[in-house]
Amino acid sequence: MSASIIDGKQIAEEIKKEVARGVEELKKQGITPGLATVLVGEDPASQTYVGMKVKDCEALGMHSIAENHPAEMREDELLSLVDTLNKDNDVHGILVQLPLPGHIDEQKVLLAINPDKDVDGFHPDNVGRLIIGQPRFSPCTPAGIVELLHRSGNPPAGKHVVVVGRSNIVGKPLAVLLMQKNDRANATVTVAHSRTQDLPEVVRSADIVIAAIGRANFIKADWLKPGAVVIDVGTNRVEDATRERGWRLVGDVDFDAAVEVASAITPVPGGVGPMTRTMLMVNTVEAARQLSGIS
Ligand code: GUN
Repeated sequence: MSASIIDGKQIAEEIKKEVARGVEELKKQGITPGLATVLVGEDPASQTYVGMKVKDCEALGMHSIAENHPAEMREDELLSLVDTLNKDNDVHGILVQLPLPGHIDEQKVLLAINPDKDVDGFHPDNVGRLIIGQPRFSPCTPAGIVELLHRSGNPPAGKHVVVVGRSNIVGKPLAVLLMQKNDRANATVTVAHSRTQDLPEVVRSADIVIAAIGRANFIKADWLKPGAVVIDVGTNRVEDATRERGWRLVGDVDFDAAVEVASAITPVPGGVGPMTRTMLMVNTVEAARQLSGIS
């Protein structure tokens, strides 16, 4: 068997068309959705991600503000910047790229973002709302994965989903989204992680495997139940002398072998990544609607 490839790029393009229509509607009412991105430091991967988010905004006719600051930026300076963006009426969404440099308290910064502009969904107020099934914004990667499953014809309802990874950004909120009592969720969810006993056996019990552990090619093909659906969140840079830049991106799943066992699988790149970026645009348009009192 050879799995079908879930094309995240194509599905993201479909959603972007819907977002562009939403932007047009808002513009007719005099509102241009605006996103502020905040990057502290020079991490190359973070620079790339933030750059792509700014480009996406521009391509969809949205307003964007890119705040790029050196790694030495003090915590109080960052908090003051967040406060300024909270008060800026042209800014509907604020994204502070993580991770932040070690001298800055990440939770303190996330707590300072106005929850109404928290398009990442990382503020404790929004995390709490998600858990009780009344989300203001769903975190972008988990929301993108739910869209991928539905739009690729692999709805999670009633299925056993094993999420490998328990981060605040992906694993935990994704587990919460998938276990909600609604037609887009209704999954039976297991959260596994690096300390799980007999991880291969746990993964083997999954109808849908979501790999978000951050280790290159960690999940092997013989851990998969034949016909399983595999969503790979990993974006690991591995050395590759054949590439001019010296590296390539690989997922958390041993793709070349897994493709022979799974029924459907996301590639890296071109799977989850484009969906994460697109859901940020979805959330920013939603923030603009909510802040302007448009339902
Ligand atoms: N770093 C890695 N993923 C994300 C994300 O979704 N949002 C932010 N703000 N930082 C990240």
